[in-house]
Amino acid sequence: MTAAAPDPLSELNALLAFYAEAGVDDALTDEPVNRLTQVARQADAPPKTSGASSQPREPRRSLQPAAAQPAPSPQRATIAAVPDEQQAAMARQLAAGATSLEELRERMASFDGCNLKSTAKNLVFADGNPQADIMCVGEAPGRDEDMEGRPFVGRSGQLLDRMLAAIGLDRDTVYIANVIPWRPPGNRAPTPHETEICRPFIERQIELVGPKVLVHLGGASAKTLLNTTEGILRLRGNWRTYSAASGATIPAMPTLHPAYLLRTPAHKRLAWRDFLEVKMKLRSLA
Ligand code: URA
Repeated sequence: MTAAAPDPLSELNALLAFYAEAGVDDALTDEPVNRLTQVARQADAPPKTSGASSQPREPRRSLQPAAAQPAPSPQRATIAAVPDEQQAAMARQLAAGATSLEELRERMASFDGCNLKSTAKNLVFADGNPQADIMCVGEAPGRDEDMEGRPFVGRSGQLLDRMLAAIGLDRDTVYIANVIPWRPPGNRAPTPHETEICRPFIERQIELVGPKVLVHLGGASAKTLLNTTEGILRLRGNWRTYSAASGATIPAMPTLHPAYLLRTPAHKRLAWRDFLEVKMKLRSLA
């Protein structure tokens, strides 16, 4: 007796289940693209002999803050081939030259040096009140945030709203942003390179908002902005000092990420204590 022919529908269901399990939740193109081969091809390609690209390579840009410098031109065509350090330098220059939040948003929207932008649907810049005394910084947008272009609007955002409400705050009295403004595909963790490329933008955003208190939502935000390798369970609940490039310092409270609290509800009481600390600090600074 011959084995029954595979049922295409069950095979398709099994494949979709496998994709879901692996964290795939976006279809980007019909055909897979091997970007590693593209990078290798670009690296191997002989220099072009005509047109703008035959010009000598631009020297590395100054890393100094560039208050009055014009925005450098975007580099979409060369994203994959340009070394990350050069993109990070470009991000530093763009961020330093932004004199308002609106200008910073525009400069980030025109920046093509972070590969996450090519898979994200939207730039997730910020939500809330830029005049707020308190600024919360998360890690990176998820699916819901990417769709809406606003941070913390999904399940963890709803929990964040409840935590803020518990200390009498809401999005009219808080400003919210992320270290990474583009959603990493499949919600994977941002790589260290992606974080370094995006870091100047969040640092400038903090400078331009100038909050009285910073709240780091989760280890990634705390580690990146407080320059520490300590884990969030050790960091949380203890005041740290965030030092801006301008020399300004801001009291910073690392706490547990709402997504972690959804998975580990027993730790909500720890986050509750951290938010009470924040409330007391705001009162003492009023
Ligand atoms: N998690 C984050 O860190 N940021 C968001 O905006 C949403 C979820």
